[in-house]
Amino acid sequence: MRRPLVAGNWKMHGTRASVAELIKGLRQLALPAGVEVAVLPPCLYLQQVVHELHGKSIAVGAQNCSVEPMQGALTGEVAASQLHDAECVFVLVGHSERRMVLGETDQQVARKFEAAQSCGLQPILCVGETLQEREAGETLLVVSRQLGAVIEELGVGAFARAVVAYEPVWAIGTGLTATPQQAQEVHAAIRAQVAAENAEVARGLRVLYGGSVKAANAVELFGMSDIDGGLIGGASLNADEFGAICRAAGN
Ligand code: PGA
Repeated sequence: MRRPLVAGNWKMHGTRASVAELIKGLRQLALPAGVEVAVLPPCLYLQQVVHELHGKSIAVGAQNCSVEPMQGALTGEVAASQLHDAECVFVLVGHSERRMVLGETDQQVARKFEAAQSCGLQPILCVGETLQEREAGETLLVVSRQLGAVIEELGVGAFARAVVAYEPVWAIGTGLTATPQQAQEVHAAIRAQVAAENAEVARGLRVLYGGSVKAANAVELFGMSDIDGGLIGGASLNADEFGAICRAAGN
């Protein structure tokens, strides 16, 4: 059995005061024991979040890391080794906002994935198609290319210590959600692509769904056989809503 994971991607939101407020809410949540819960604050607030969540079983992760695993001369970047030092457990790689706004390539994403693992972090690899790609019938092609880029560089075994998040770009922050069936189709394809090379790794691989997940649609999405939890953006900024989503993953 795969243990569901619900990760809150705070994106570029927060101030010291609002982070403190959000953590206060998170600390009060009754979280289901069978679900792994994580939050991914902006780097600036990692230490604060680690400190203020102390003793609560919520893991902390980052939203990005450098292609270079170790600290060094690379202005403005944060190394995976530094994230590990800050007690991060997870790091997102290849979020669509970074691929699209900052032009991150599949190759850079693969290097970040490798950097993260080499420092003991679990990468959460984000994949997903744009609306244009979906309408052109290219969804599975795009997702398989994004996943394949990492498999090609690092081998499928790398996914024994990683998570994949399927996030259709058209569903992120738009209020549009993939139907459970649409999501399941892509999740199954992701698992099949991994299974083609290693069935055991595929069986253990957690594939999260992301894109306008709310308490109201989480139960249905998480009920699909290949959906192992969620990557939650907007709704993770509200502790009660996030808690309800975590509980949905425990059902
Ligand atoms: P959303 O974002 O839940 O606000 O759509 C999800 C994400 O981008 O990770």
